[in-house]
Amino acid sequence: MTNVVLKHLSRRFGDHLAVRDLNLEIASGEMVAFLGPSGCGKTTTLRMITGLIQPTSGDVLFDGESVVGIPTERRGAVMVFQKHLLFPTMNVADNVGFGLKMAGVEKPEIARRVDEILELVELPGLGDRKAHELSGGQQQRVALARALVVHPQVLLLDEPLANLDANLRITMRHLIRTIQRELGITAIFVTHDQEEAVMLADRVALMFDGVVQQVGEPNSFYKRPATARVAQFFRNSNFLPGQRTGNVVTTSVGDVEVDPDLVPEGSGHVVLTVRPEEVQPVLDGSTEGNVVPATIESVIYMGSYTQLEARIGDETWNVQTSAAFMPKDGETVMLRLPREHLWIVRDDSSEEGAVAS
Ligand SMILES: Nc1ncnc2c1ncn2[C@@H]1O[C@H](COP(=O)(O)OP(=O)(O)OP(=O)(O)O)[C@@H](O)[C@H]1O
Ligand SMILES: [Mg+2]
Repeated sequence: MTNVVLKHLSRRFGDHLAVRDLNLEIASGEMVAFLGPSGCGKTTTLRMITGLIQPTSGDVLFDGESVVGIPTERRGAVMVFQKHLLFPTMNVADNVGFGLKMAGVEKPEIARRVDEILELVELPGLGDRKAHELSGGQQQRVALARALVVHPQVLLLDEPLANLDANLRITMRHLIRTIQRELGITAIFVTHDQEEAVMLADRVALMFDGVVQQVGEPNSFYKRPATARVAQFFRNSNFLPGQRTGNVVTTSVGDVEVDPDLVPEGSGHVVLTVRPEEVQPVLDGSTEGNVVPATIESVIYMGSYTQLEARIGDETWNVQTSAAFMPKDGETVMLRLPREHLWIVRDDSSEEGAVAS
């Protein structure tokens, strides 16, 4: 079991600061996902942890000891690359068993462990096939098998499921999670797919532009996004600005009450946010409990629910309601913003490098 600490980790390429002052502690046996849009610095971070590149400044510690300067092969960390790098003319079994051979494991033991792991990644009997004779998804699974078979202390996965079809992706997610838990491997997983991060990880670190924006358990990103950009990344584009006094926020569509036990203290300009599925249409004429008027801009019937675009003040909101609620385009309806689902985000929408929704 190994714990990994990243301390003030930064990496510059020429003028470009690809990773900025990253601080994170990953517990022994924990699985953390680095999530973020293309180019935000995920792979660069993994490469610094494995030792494939050196940090410009900062430190990487395994169990309290700095590993900067220690060669990759002596760190006990194994990386599965975004572009899987198999030895193309070697057969699958030799590819998978390569690390064990280097470690001096006896041949029959290598054969046994290779067979076992190929079974696990659902490639039984493919041991004799040359790597270049496999499909992209098969190669990806061989790369995964090759990393897992050595029982690494720290496993670094750079979008290892990117080339797989939807069903295989799900199977492989479960497989990675099961093996990682069983062996108590500390794992860091890179993805730009929020669903994958949420399903696999104990904790998620969301990065934009080389900077970690928020670290937390998966559901904290849905329920407690730190900023408007974080909320947008998790497909919550419903925002309503206002002036806060105590627990009341005065907005262009009326006063809205927040729960002081949930939201941080503060006053002045704030931005409220609520997830699309938490907004409730009010059908009984009630005006109690944060009811605001909205003009329907589009209605899409999705089978099990209705997807609405609704204008609230100057904002266009996405709202998901029961399929029984089918207002007309242009109609004014009343919507309740339940106090227990209202959250306040920091307004970073105009900051440098803001992501489009
Ligand atoms: N060797 C390099 N030389 C110069 N710039 C680099 C190098 N490697 C990465 N970069 C730049 O650093 C930034 C971060 O790259 P990185 O590969 O870490 O992104 P990523 O988050 O893994 O993206 P993706 O999801 O597309 O794989 C990018 O702007 C990239 O162009
Ligand atoms: Mg990458």
